[in-house]
Amino acid sequence: MRSPCNHGVETDPSGDPVNTAVPQTEDAGAAACAGPTDALGTSAAQARSAALEELIRTDPGRFRVLTGDRPTGRLHLGHFFGTLHNRVRLQELGVELFVVIADYQVLTDRDVADNLLQHVEELVLDYLAIGVDPARSTIFTHGAVPALNQLMLPFLSLVSVSELNRNPTVKDEIAHSRQSAVSGLMFTYPVHQAADILFCKANLVPVGQDQLPHLELTRTIARRFNDRYGAGSAVFPQPDALLSSAPLLLGTDGTKMSKSRNNAITLAATVDETARLVKGAKTDSERHISYDPATRPEVSSLLLLAALCQGRSPEQVAADIGSAGAAALKKVVTESVNEYLAPIRARRAEYGQDRAHLRAVLSEGNERARAVADATLAEVRAAMNTCY
Ligand code: TRP
Repeated sequence: MRSPCNHGVETDPSGDPVNTAVPQTEDAGAAACAGPTDALGTSAAQARSAALEELIRTDPGRFRVLTGDRPTGRLHLGHFFGTLHNRVRLQELGVELFVVIADYQVLTDRDVADNLLQHVEELVLDYLAIGVDPARSTIFTHGAVPALNQLMLPFLSLVSVSELNRNPTVKDEIAHSRQSAVSGLMFTYPVHQAADILFCKANLVPVGQDQLPHLELTRTIARRFNDRYGAGSAVFPQPDALLSSAPLLLGTDGTKMSKSRNNAITLAATVDETARLVKGAKTDSERHISYDPATRPEVSSLLLLAALCQGRSPEQVAADIGSAGAAALKKVVTESVNEYLAPIRARRAEYGQDRAHLRAVLSEGNERARAVADATLAEVRAAMNTCY
């Protein structure tokens, strides 16, 4: 029956598809967890991710994935091999995919979100170029989905200030923030991220290590909401983290590849820009090329990059180069990256010709996300007895 809060909102089947899809403590949990479910414990999260992969293969239809990026610049190879690649893989396996372009989250560590429209369009271009299919997957900006943002208020009531205070990822971001004062948004954005995930009742979130505390908070919020307002039935699923197995790629300066450090090879870089960036990459003075991430991090990261592009192991790539030195290694890396990215870059250039299409993809995605968020908010209001 339609709830009294459901003001003319279609009860779209996609609004409520998977909230019971993955029993949290039954088969998925039992298969995955030998010990206690501690999403902060990486090994537990890894074990659970392995079990989830098995479930995804056998029954992709029970999963809805939500993942996303902040629109602060073009995506790079670190993003690609860390998460983007995985999104498309999940989509191709038949998992339903929601991708949020987290525009409000840009304001966590800066006063002004510069060139927002341009950054948003660049992200849509990157997504389309790598194979996110807007016919099957939903790309949206959370700023355009009011009902998603309205979930923030009840969610904030479910967490304590001390819980927000001890989030290690937020602490780290505050330490690296370029702002002199820490804003309320910086402290509370993990709660907003819970709204990004729970508005569509996603039950699977592909993440890197740094996002695990946010996912644990999302699970806490879902559980507390259900306990407090669910009257015996779960309004929200407790989403699982799907930990990326991809090793970390270093930037050309030997530190973590990052948009803000100017050390990244973007998906959109030209063949020549790629060659120049790789040429300037830090290596070491040892002529014999070997894969040893602990003692030769820069050389090893270049080998890894070439290996990921070639679909081989870094040891094999190293053996091919032997004692030919860093210049030969860089030649191999440049050629491998340029060859691997050629079709992605060609698609990117093609989509880039048609801004109207980009805007249509985004407005259709926003519309779909709004319908889903309206249905969820209606349920939340009914559960909270705030239907007037
Ligand atoms: N915080 C994420 C990042 O910086 C981006 C993001 C926003 C996100 N909302 C999300 C990721 C929801 C996963 C789920 O990369």
